[in-house]
Amino acid sequence: MSTDAIVLLKDDHKEIRRLFREFGKAGPDAKKEKQRLVDQIIKALTVHTYLENECMYPRVRELVPEITDDILESLEEHHVADLLVMELATMNAGDERFDAKTTVLIENVTHHIEEEEDEWFPKVRERLGRKQLQEIGAELLELRKKAPTSPVQPSALKKAVDAVLS
Ligand SMILES: [Fe+2]
Ligand SMILES: [Fe+2]
Repeated sequence: MSTDAIVLLKDDHKEIRRLFREFGKAGPDAKKEKQRLVDQIIKALTVHTYLENECMYPRVRELVPEITDDILESLEEHHVADLLVMELATMNAGDERFDAKTTVLIENVTHHIEEEEDEWFPKVRERLGRKQLQEIGAELLELRKKAPTSPVQPSALKKAVDAVLS
């Protein structure tokens, strides 16, 4: 298996896009199916964003400083996606705004993925050697083992509950 960082991240994108297409195909009354898909979308985006924020973006910013503006824009796009994901995580498929919010998330993230793949990943590939991309990829694989899978961390939730009860 390749550990090239860009290949790994593009594999994630492929899976995320597949989930988006499935959501688009689900009929208006397929609430259970949509809930299942949104749960998977939230998980996939939480892991992927964590890997990019914690490893890919900082490494690339350091090694290819001329794409700093692209990275800063991408971080803002992550931030918007994080907010939508956090809101969606508190909703369920029966909520009036569930489909609309998911659609806006899908539109935002699709645009974001296109920018990564078409605009700045190619610049990174051009600038970094295969060895460097494989080293970053190996780091991504390690980090994936401890990546959060939900925007609400059990430890944070417990802290909040304890604070309310104390
Ligand atoms: Fe991203
Ligand atoms: Fe990405």
